[in-house]
Amino acid sequence: MTNDDGNGNENTRTGTVLVLGGTGKSGRRVAERLRARGAGVRIGSRGTETPFDWERPETWPAAVSGVRSAYVAYSPDVGFPGASEAVGAFAELAVREGVQRLVLLSGRGEPGARRSEEALFAAGAPAASVVRASFFAQNFSEGFFADMVRSGAVAFPAEGVPEPFIDAGDIADVAVEALTGDPARHAGRVHEVTGPRALTFPEAVAEVSAAVGREIAYVPLAFEAFRDGMVGQGAPPEFAARLTELFGEILDGRNSAATGGVRDVLGREAADFSEYAKRTAATGVWAPSS
Ligand SMILES: NC(=O)c1ccc[n+]([C@@H]2O[C@H](COP(=O)([O-])OP(=O)(O)OC[C@H]3O[C@@H](n4cnc5c(N)ncnc54)[C@H](OP(=O)(O)O)[C@@H]3O)[C@@H](O)[C@H]2O)c1
Repeated sequence: MTNDDGNGNENTRTGTVLVLGGTGKSGRRVAERLRARGAGVRIGSRGTETPFDWERPETWPAAVSGVRSAYVAYSPDVGFPGASEAVGAFAELAVREGVQRLVLLSGRGEPGARRSEEALFAAGAPAASVVRASFFAQNFSEGFFADMVRSGAVAFPAEGVPEPFIDAGDIADVAVEALTGDPARHAGRVHEVTGPRALTFPEAVAEVSAAVGREIAYVPLAFEAFRDGMVGQGAPPEFAARLTELFGEILDGRNSAATGGVRDVLGREAADFSEYAKRTAATGVWAPSS
């Protein structure tokens, strides 16, 4: 766990903000934005100096000590069994330790994620809010699709399902607003955030392909084959089974509608997937694997 304050001084208005999952897709961006505002940031993850581990509650008190607010990104998935109990227990500890604001990253259409949201609110923080996000665009560049894109074929069991992919930068902007903006606009609220339009997974892959100027195929496959492929790539079998089960549940079109959540919170439109694809292609992260 690192405890830097960006400027050498703790920001007296925001206080130190604990960013759980602060090295991941959303948390890293939340931390960057908070530091840019001069807020004190403490990253909590298993790899930080004083580790924070969701599976080891004895590591939690040191993380919340002296903290005014916290961004809560649960790992591995906020909808998995055990997540709501852990999120609830962490939130209760945070409230006892005097944390004023809690912002939970949640997912759309997942009954387990809904239970985690309820557990967060039940802990009674002075200001608790939820950022309920659609499927991240960054799954294609920082998540489990990244290696597939580099190899030239994205194999996923969701051929005809439209998804309003959201840019993790927008999630972070909304989360930072919920952590630092007027509490009256956020306490007790669920900000359901998506990208501005839904694309099917083959359409998203085609956009990535066009952005990198190289053929990248979308390969439909069965859920079981997806699970076995993850295990073949080194994923723990239980994780692969749970993730596949989750995708089997939510990839039925229930999350296909775009929301105005980003506009409502930030007063601007959410970033489009094609902007993400062009910007990301320019970084070289999708250079072909040999
Ligand atoms: N990806 C999506 O499309 C999507 C959509 C909606 C919601 N979500 C939710 O987003 C959350 C994940 O957030 P993310 O995608 O921003 O993060 P991420 O990229 O998956 O990174 C995981 C972060 O959590 C840390 N971490 C991993 N295991 C941990 C553990 N046992 N205890 C403590 N920290 C741990 C990692 O650092 P260390 O490895 O150093 O511990 C890292 O900072 C999940 O709850 C998921 O349900 C994801």
